[in-house]
Amino acid sequence: MSSSNPTATLANGQPANPGHVQQVRYGQTNGGLALLSDTYTIEVLAHFARERIPERSVHAKAAGAFGEFEVLEDISDLTDADFLTGIGKKTKVLTRISTVGGEKGSSDTVRDVRGWATKFYTEEGVQDFVFNDLPVFFIRDPIKFPSMNRSHKRHPQTNVPDNSMFWDFHKNNPEGIHALMHLFGPRGIPASLRNINGFSVHTYTLNKSDGSYVYVKWHFKPDDGIKTMDPKVAVRLAGEDPDYHVKDLFKTIEKGDYPTWSVCIQVMKPEDVQSAPIDIFDCTYTWPYEKYPLRRVGRLTLNQNPSNYFQDIEQACFSPSNMVPGIGPSADPVLQARMFSYPDAHRYRVGPNYFQLPPNRPTNKVYAPYVRDGPGTVNGNYGGDPDYVFSQLRPVSKSARLQMPLQEKWNGQVTSFATSVTDKDFEQARKLWEIICKEEGGKEQLLHNILPTLVDIPASLRKEVLDYLGRVDKTLKDCLEQGLKGK
Ligand code: HEM
Repeated sequence: MSSSNPTATLANGQPANPGHVQQVRYGQTNGGLALLSDTYTIEVLAHFARERIPERSVHAKAAGAFGEFEVLEDISDLTDADFLTGIGKKTKVLTRISTVGGEKGSSDTVRDVRGWATKFYTEEGVQDFVFNDLPVFFIRDPIKFPSMNRSHKRHPQTNVPDNSMFWDFHKNNPEGIHALMHLFGPRGIPASLRNINGFSVHTYTLNKSDGSYVYVKWHFKPDDGIKTMDPKVAVRLAGEDPDYHVKDLFKTIEKGDYPTWSVCIQVMKPEDVQSAPIDIFDCTYTWPYEKYPLRRVGRLTLNQNPSNYFQDIEQACFSPSNMVPGIGPSADPVLQARMFSYPDAHRYRVGPNYFQLPPNRPTNKVYAPYVRDGPGTVNGNYGGDPDYVFSQLRPVSKSARLQMPLQEKWNGQVTSFATSVTDKDFEQARKLWEIICKEEGGKEQLLHNILPTLVDIPASLRKEVLDYLGRVDKTLKDCLEQGLKGK
């Protein structure tokens, strides 16, 4: 045996005898009574029962990789965020790309939104972008998020996904029509994770310490182009090779064939918000490209697989609230709610000290002595420093680069508010339908994707769903009705 082989120990470092169980042997048989003093066997069995952390309530199945972001254009007119300043500047990143509805072991090639989460380890703290591969979202009243996801997941009684539940939710929460049209379109199943977009979906701000700011939507565009998967191939792969996308990303990076994305923004000045053709604080709308063209910012490259999936990807905690100076939120209530929800999920899923773990640890100097103790503290815990604010024993200085939540001036009344749906909500969905109809085989494919979901639902609900889809375009309803005749 080579002397470079590691010597087996227990977790406390004492020598261990792997594969052996201390026992009172029963003669020459394989029988015996195991001993409570066999700490090694007990440690191995007890740890096994505790080696899972709760999987994410949504976005549980994913691939992940490290990489880098490089600034390619000067956007110093819009932001003074350190990692976006200086052409050629590079920042280390971690990206996790997920499906939404399925569990940790579910198939990759299902029709679903793909989640996109990137962590930038900047010199001013960790910046996370927690995006999706579709440009719009299904809801715009944040309290509906759990409901929407449950309607896409398993039925509470049968424990299987359920088309009636799916359509019952969407028909009665019709603001999701634009996202639904994307979901049932070709992009609902990507060919690979290397060929998807990442969209911020929400409006964010870019700002500078002089108080100036603009509104932006972020777009990550794959340099290798968008590629989608034929639904028949997807169904086959979902059974034959359920980890198809995860394997593909890992193998491609391992080969050195690194996927890249162009990082772009759409920009709107605050004074143009009122006259904009869309509500920029409503995440069910896209901004028209003609009016708000894409401006390139940089390039994102994934070039390093994690050396341990559990440590680096399962324990990775991404949150829209992780923002550095120069980047800010907007008044999109869904974004506001998300800024609470993610760190809340992390404290539950990974533990209150999640930010001390390798994938979540900032690379700049952190001094947060009012966040200390708790399970698994490994950062020195601020030694004897005061654990209360405004100490004169160890005064704390304040950075001039404080992140302010919003630049706008607000003046309004507190109300209990829910959005309502108007014909305007169907306009962008209709435009998308028209685009799909112009693509070769696009219309047939969309119908083919929707039809099976309408077969096994109650007739009254089916009629209402057809009316709902008819609000996009009467031909869509007519074609679906026609298609259902053969079913
Ligand atoms: C009210 C709306 C939303 C709520 C409350 C919400 C909440 C959550 C929660 C609790 C998780 C699991 C986090 C974890 O356990 O680490 C999650 C994951 C995720 N969400 Fe949302 N979400 C919302 C909307 C959105 C939107 C609009 C997007 C995209 C623009 C999005 C993208 C993602 C992604 C990419 C992940 C996976 C992050 C990862 O890879 O760890 N979510 N969301």
